[in-house]
Amino acid sequence: MASANQIKQLVRHFTKRDDSRFLSVVMQIAAHEARIGHTKFAEELRTLVETAKLSLANNSSQDAMPTALTPNTSRIDLGNSTDLFSVSHPTVKLQDIFLSSSTEIRIKRFLEENRNSKKIRQFGLTPRRHLLLFGPPGTGKTMTASVVAHELHLPLFTVRMDSLMTKFMGETSAKLRSIFEYIRSHKGVYLFDEFDTIGSKRSVTNDVGEVRRVLNTFLQLLDEHVSDSLIISATNHKEILDHALYRRFDDVIEYHNPYVNNIQSLIESRFITFDLNVYDWPDISKAAEGLSYAEVVKSCDDSIKFAIINNQRTVEQGLLKEMLSERSSYNN
Ligand SMILES: Nc1ncnc2c1ncn2[C@@H]1O[C@H](COP(=O)(O)OP(=O)(O)OP(=O)(O)O)[C@@H](O)[C@H]1O
Ligand SMILES: [Mg+2]
Repeated sequence: MASANQIKQLVRHFTKRDDSRFLSVVMQIAAHEARIGHTKFAEELRTLVETAKLSLANNSSQDAMPTALTPNTSRIDLGNSTDLFSVSHPTVKLQDIFLSSSTEIRIKRFLEENRNSKKIRQFGLTPRRHLLLFGPPGTGKTMTASVVAHELHLPLFTVRMDSLMTKFMGETSAKLRSIFEYIRSHKGVYLFDEFDTIGSKRSVTNDVGEVRRVLNTFLQLLDEHVSDSLIISATNHKEILDHALYRRFDDVIEYHNPYVNNIQSLIESRFITFDLNVYDWPDISKAAEGLSYAEVVKSCDDSIKFAIINNQRTVEQGLLKEMLSERSSYNN
C-alpha cells in the first residue's frame, strides 16, 4: 500500500494539477508493490498510468496546449492518439509460450539483443527491433508480443487497426506518422495486429492509390525508425503481404498449430490447479490434432468448468476428449 507520505504527495500534486508529478508518485507506488510481490497490482497501476498519459496527450492536443507527446506532432494526429492504441503491461513469461525450436532461438536472440542494446550500439550496430509474425489464428503471435514486453519490462501498445484505417484519404498516413512519433518518444513494444490491413500487396485492393500510399508511408517510417522501441507486426495472411516488407523486418517468423508431441505438455500446463486423469495420451493427442494452441487451451478450460459445475474434482479423459472433439467439429 501507499505510504502516508505518498498519499500526502498525491493530494498535493492533485491540488496543484501537476499531472506528471502525480503520475510519477503512482509509479513509485507501483515499484514498491512490485518489490513486495504484488506484481499484478503493480502491473495494473502501471497500465493505468500509461493510459492516463495517453489520455493527457489527447486532451492537451484538443486544448491546443503544449503537448506531452512530442513538440512537432500535428494537432489532428494527437487528437486521435488515445483511440489509436491500447496499452497493457503483460505478465506472460517466455516459459509460458510453446514455440518451435527454431522460433524459440530467434525470440531468445531478439530478447538478448535488446537486453544488450547499449553494448551493441557502442559498436555502431543496432539491435533487432522489427519482427513480422505470421501464421494461423491462435498460434501465439499476440502472445509473443506480450512475452517480449514482459521479458524486457516494457509496456505493450497495441495499435488499433480499425481506428488507424479510415476511409478519408490521407488521414491514415497522417495517423501512422503520429503513431511513429509516439513510438520514438515512448519506449515500448508496439504491436500492429492484423497487419495485412496495411501490408497488402499493392494489387489486391480496390483503392490501389490509397493503399499504396499507406504502405509506402509505413515502409518509410519503418526505415527511418531509430529509437529503442520495438515494432511487432502480426498477420494470418502472409500470402498477401508485399515483398518489399520482408527486408524491412529483422526477423520474419512463421507460427504453426501445435505438433503432436507438444499437445501433452500444453494440456498439462493448463492443469496446474485442477486434476486431470489421462491414461491414453496418444488418444487425446489424436483428438486435438489440427486444433490451434488457443483451441486446445479453450477445450481444457471448458472441461475444467464442466467439472466444477458438476462438483467433480478431476477432469477425466473422456470429458477432455469430448471437449476437444467438439471444438474440432467447428472446423469441419
Ligand atoms: N504457442 C502457444 N503457446 C501457449 N499458448 C498459446 C500459444 N498460442 C496460443 N496460445 C493460447 O491461445 C491464446 C490466444 O493466442 P494468440 O492471441 O497469441 O493467437 P494469435 O496467433 O495472435 O491469433 P490471431 O491470429 O487470431 O490473432 C493465448 O492467450 C494462449 O492462451
Ligand atoms: Mg493475435
